[in-house]
Amino acid sequence: MSCRDRGDVDPQTLDFARWQFGLTAAGHFLFVSLTLGLAPLLAVLQTRATLRGGAPVHTAMVRYWGRLYLINYGIGIVTGLVMEFQFGMAWSGLGHTAGAVFGASLAVETVFAFFVESVFLGLWILGWDRFNRWVHLAILWVVTGTAYLSAYWILVTNGFLNNPVGYATDGDGALVLEDPVALLTNPSTLLAFGHIAGGALVTAGLFLAGVSAYHLSRRTEHHALFRRSLRLGVFTALPALFVTVVFGGVQLASLTTLQPMKSAVFRQDAAETARLQAELTERFGPGDYLPHEALTRGAGTVMMLMFALLMYGLLASAILACFPRAVHRFRLWHTVLMAMVPLPYVAMTAGWVFREAGRQPWVVYGVLRTEDAVSDLSAGAMALSLAVFGTLFAVLIAVNTVLLLRTARRGPTAPLSGPLPPPTPLVPPGPPGPPAGPPAAPPVAPLAGPGPR
Ligand code: HEM
Repeated sequence: MSCRDRGDVDPQTLDFARWQFGLTAAGHFLFVSLTLGLAPLLAVLQTRATLRGGAPVHTAMVRYWGRLYLINYGIGIVTGLVMEFQFGMAWSGLGHTAGAVFGASLAVETVFAFFVESVFLGLWILGWDRFNRWVHLAILWVVTGTAYLSAYWILVTNGFLNNPVGYATDGDGALVLEDPVALLTNPSTLLAFGHIAGGALVTAGLFLAGVSAYHLSRRTEHHALFRRSLRLGVFTALPALFVTVVFGGVQLASLTTLQPMKSAVFRQDAAETARLQAELTERFGPGDYLPHEALTRGAGTVMMLMFALLMYGLLASAILACFPRAVHRFRLWHTVLMAMVPLPYVAMTAGWVFREAGRQPWVVYGVLRTEDAVSDLSAGAMALSLAVFGTLFAVLIAVNTVLLLRTARRGPTAPLSGPLPPPTPLVPPGPPGPPAGPPAAPPVAPLAGPGPR
């Protein structure tokens, strides 16, 4: 497979390849958003459980949320593998021109995500009741660390595509790495890392709060577990949202110098857009240097809108979460929290569309056009692979959603399959008040191994 010469590309092949990248990247990122946010929450929970000598309610929280984490991680890793495969298949021109610059960072990402993280996660699953509890805790922190390292390494590649730095061009027009430090400290990478880490924590925080709100509103058992989880979720998501917006604000300002066309399109600045079009034509030759305006502006606007909804919802939730009575009984608020769970997912997806669609027509900004990076495949072959990958991703996302919902609904004690046990009433009618003595936690289904330790 080779890339075509400029101008030779079949527009249909290009369109199918773009759809394929957009759908698989967005699909994969749905999984990443939750995994990345849930990992540190689990690590914090297990640290608390370990410090308290394995307090039942804290251990139960680790096991319950850990089970949901594993489902999401397991299916997400499959989407990641497919994603890398389609990337190599559909965009051989990118590897050919710029592979020497970001090949190493992609490889390191694969080592972290697929090998180190998976191996340590396997040790964590099998290590319950087998390892010393401090060793078991350390393993989870390694899993969390590798998750963030792998996010950083993939953003080194993506940052280079958005703001190519630290490279030189060899005699054949291929890019070679000249300054690794510039590549690793690319502002486009570092800002995106902070923005995404914040967004992932918002996603996971709201996931915890939404699932807990479901159980509290249904008055199921394990109220101590879900009360704590709801509070943890809300008090994680709110500060994380502020982190997200601070990084986002700096990114927005930096776009005026890094990618002025994206910035002008988002601001609907027609005069600046026309000026940039003329400037880019003079610099790179005739062509259309405008990204898809509706898509770019629409995605940016949706991201901002989600932020506003989340901010109001989370500010109100943080106030309500200070009142035990509301945490127990305020069903309307529980419903709102459940309804808010998809919002960060929408914002995360819209953010990526804004970043990637707004960069067009470049795949490596100012260096390589998307049309020059697509593989030399027929439109039919690309359509077929789009259909196969599209179907596979739809199935994986559906399976993940069903499994997450079912496992979340079943609660901590229920087995993974079989009929649901009848719901147990939470509290008798009357004022809730603080529970007398230490919170009781019914036995919890293990992740693996013989039983709760
Ligand atoms: C819930 C809130 C938000 C979430 C989950 C979110 C998520 C994302 C994601 C995943 C990306 C793509 C990766 C990246 O470039 O970092 C992105 C891009 C971006 N976000 Fe957000 N975002 C949120 C709110 C905001 C806000 C409030 C702002 C502005 C104040 C903002 C500004 C940006 C900018 C400028 C980009 C594109 C950066 C570029 O193209 O280089 N975001 N966002």
